Amino acid sequence: MAAERVTEVVRVSADAPERAPLERAADILRAGGLVAFPTETVYGLGANAWDGRAVARIFAAKGRPATNPLIVHVASLEDARNLAADWPRPAALLAERFWPGPLTLVLPRADRVPDIVTAGQNTVAIRMPAHAVARALIALADLPIAAPSANRSSRLSPTHAAHVLRDLHGLIDMILDAGATTGGLESTVLDLTVTPPRLLRPGLVTPAQLQAVIGPIAHDALSVSSPTLPVPSPGMLARHYAPRAPLECVADDAWPRVAELHRAGLHVGWLTFRTERLPAGVTATVMPVSPFTYAAQLYAALHALDDAGVDRIVVELPPDTEEWLAVRDRLRRASTP
Ligand code: TXA
Ligand code: MG
Repeated sequence: MAAERVTEVVRVSADAPERAPLERAADILRAGGLVAFPTETVYGLGANAWDGRAVARIFAAKGRPATNPLIVHVASLEDARNLAADWPRPAALLAERFWPGPLTLVLPRADRVPDIVTAGQNTVAIRMPAHAVARALIALADLPIAAPSANRSSRLSPTHAAHVLRDLHGLIDMILDAGATTGGLESTVLDLTVTPPRLLRPGLVTPAQLQAVIGPIAHDALSVSSPTLPVPSPGMLARHYAPRAPLECVADDAWPRVAELHRAGLHVGWLTFRTERLPAGVTATVMPVSPFTYAAQLYAALHALDDAGVDRIVVELPPDTEEWLAVRDRLRRASTP
């Protein structure tokens, strides 16, 4: 357990972040403290990546297994290259096309990167976030920032500062609150240390977009309909990104299942694509039909169902197409086998 401390929550503009709170946050990071900050995907929990003791506090605050490495966030290409032992041409091409943005590249690590960041592996995950607050904070701190999602380990990622506070209150020094994050799902993670490059986690940058820049990548093992779940990345545990209430996914019409659970006396939360009259005791959330809007709202919807105290969550699966890959991946991980 990390030592109990006061968590300061400071509002900051998402588009034109004020300098004073960023300066304070940068000071905390330079002093070895922990700051949660918004990125364009989800809120991250940051520490100075060069400082192994600061990074150890992240693991303690999250209750994260030491075997699960962290993504290091940078504000410049130069910083990215300093973290990697090698900067192959696909890295240069992808950084040029997608950075800043929701793409994480796994590369051979530079010796200087502390073991705790990479969980002792020879590789390091690097990303340059696009959110104005994240960019300004990293640039001001003038440090690479190791940052997992700002939630307790294996719980839902936070898309609002309130989600961070609920999980990590008293365990971290500061939260920069810039409102809801726009992307809503964690970054795409691509391993460039293998041939062909391998998709470790689907995200808002799709396999087709990656392949348009660097040619073939391996990603079919992640096909959402594949019955077995590969564990290509230490963090990709099967049950992950989970709400408190057991969640089940239903293809096609979920109403019979919702009705069955309701009849059994359970308070059911339902993520659905259609509106209809519902019996009391079923809390339905109508989800958007666009994958990007759906992604942006998914975690907030699940957090809200947890807040409502539902016993069970039923989710109508979106179509099995590439544009829904990341959403379906997270739903599958959130579901109880
Ligand atoms: O959008 C995001 O990526 C967010 C924001 C805060 O940037 N961060 C995030 O971090 O989702 P985290 O720690 O929740 O997820 C990082 C994932 C984990 O699955 C981890 O195992 C994997 O990236 N990862 C990190 N370093 C790796 C490495 N060297 N090799 C393979 N996988 C790695
Ligand atoms: Mg996470």
